[in-house]
Amino acid sequence: MSFISRVRRTDYIVIGSGVAGLRAAIELAPFGRVLVVTKDKPSESSTEYAQGGVAVALSDDDEVSFHYRDTLKAGDGLCRSEAVRTLVEEGPDRITELINWGTQFDKKGFSLAFTQEAAHSRRRILSAKGDSTGKEIERSLLRKVRNFKNITRYSHSCTVDLIVEDGICTGVLLVRGDELIACYARAVILATGGAGRLFSRTTNPPVATGDGIAMGYRAGAVVEDMEFIQFHPTSLFVPGAPQFLLSEAMRGEGAVLRNQNGKRFMSRYHPDAELAPRDVVCRAILSEMVRTRTKYVHLDLTHIEPAFIKKRFPRIYTTCLSFNINITEKPIPVSPSAHYIMGGIKTNINGESSLKGLFAAGEVACTGIHGANRLASNSLLEGLVFGARAGQAAVKYGETVNLPRNLKRITHPEAYEIKKGNTEKIRDNLRKIMWQKVGIIRCEKSLLQAQKKLSAWKHLLSASLLTRPDLELKNMLTVSQIILTSALLRQNSVGAHYRSDYKEKTKGWRRHIRIKQAKDGEIEAKG
Ligand code: FAD
Ligand code: SIN
Repeated sequence: MSFISRVRRTDYIVIGSGVAGLRAAIELAPFGRVLVVTKDKPSESSTEYAQGGVAVALSDDDEVSFHYRDTLKAGDGLCRSEAVRTLVEEGPDRITELINWGTQFDKKGFSLAFTQEAAHSRRRILSAKGDSTGKEIERSLLRKVRNFKNITRYSHSCTVDLIVEDGICTGVLLVRGDELIACYARAVILATGGAGRLFSRTTNPPVATGDGIAMGYRAGAVVEDMEFIQFHPTSLFVPGAPQFLLSEAMRGEGAVLRNQNGKRFMSRYHPDAELAPRDVVCRAILSEMVRTRTKYVHLDLTHIEPAFIKKRFPRIYTTCLSFNINITEKPIPVSPSAHYIMGGIKTNINGESSLKGLFAAGEVACTGIHGANRLASNSLLEGLVFGARAGQAAVKYGETVNLPRNLKRITHPEAYEIKKGNTEKIRDNLRKIMWQKVGIIRCEKSLLQAQKKLSAWKHLLSASLLTRPDLELKNMLTVSQIILTSALLRQNSVGAHYRSDYKEKTKGWRRHIRIKQAKDGEIEAKG
């Protein structure tokens, strides 16, 4: 395919239209022209599928200090306290603002209804329409964004790479239809979400291919904590069906896990049983699956009042029914899936990356709020708090720089042609390798095996590619390499990173592993 090469100038570019990107765009809009780029339809994002809710210390028996303490505990010693404090202290204002913009959270009578999730010492989770919290937040933010005349939205537009001139990020190169557009701006905010699609079992939507992390890395930004992948214990296990998430809120409302023999098992693994940290529940499920020689366990709600289940989890009830599972009558077959990446583009609490002109917020970023393991329902709040902060910081930075006058038309080198059908084949193989060798339990042997297999596709890391599937594959390979390098370097088990050959927190576990692209294009690791 041949592309028409164009240039475009705006004040600010936001890549991604999930909670973090939209919140950032709202902050930027009063100060200049904003271009929001999304590679799919505007709402397609992890945000849209978030179920359980958003954590915030707003209930009468809760305090910001309790939320702070629970977040640090979940992070297993690797959270940055300044970032956590910012999250929990600014969270209530961001939520109140969201309510004022029309977000309808569930209520008990006239008051907000707070529910329970694992590792929260208080009932502090706000939900919307039962189990459609993300969809409701996305709806209200998109509506708010539409009110700003100077926000332009480019949907179905996939970014190729960031534009960097003299060590400063000045824009982004993207593919939109048959056009290759070089967009220049004062500042760029990455809000591209996570990388769950790197794994063959994942709760994440197809857009979550780690593009922002890969582009930031290629542009020279520092990436941090990439070995920490959170696996969610309960996603639907029906052969041929997607790994639809079965919210932790179900266990919060009393659902229990049973093995193949119908026996509850979680209390043998942790005093908090079904409400133990996610990594503990995942490993317990794996262990029961091995013991009973099956590929799944059961999530059982059949002891809970059916009318309550249908009202509290309407989306889950209907989805499971479409797979012939009536969750009020039958236990649900479940197994773990990749869910969230704690690492990402390293930023400070203002979303500033190590590369001038480049900001990041939401799941793509690593502020240090999650440490080695994220507390459930903290990421929607993260998108709101740090999306707003990144927007504010980008404005401040933008006031100090001029827009480049002579905009360079970028003619991309002839695109490398991956043999027809091979992109899908390589992607499927990569996802299987990442799941089997770099998944919930890792060891040096499995990581080295993965590294060897991935090296067969090394030539694609520097190839010039221009279609969305090819670009995503290149990004997935890049991010997988970074995860592997970090996981090999961390010779201890902390939070969600579990090494069967180093089961404890051995000497030096408190360090953070940082990765940067070296001048020769190889991975350079520190920490
Ligand atoms: P996203 O919402 O994923 O948005 C990323 C955006 O970037 C999308 O618009 C995408 O199209 C765009 N994009 C990506 N790459 C490119 C590219 N190359 N070019 C252009 N655009 C691009 N968290 C909670 O706090 N509570 C929950 O209850 C909860 N439930 C969850 C349930 C599910 C099924 C999943 C998958 C996640 C859940 N999470 C939950 C996690 C949470 O939803 C995400 O971490 C959060 O929504 C991420 O927001 P974001 O704005 O950073 O990214
Ligand atoms: C869930 O509903 O279980 C997901 C919550 C989260 O990942 O924060």
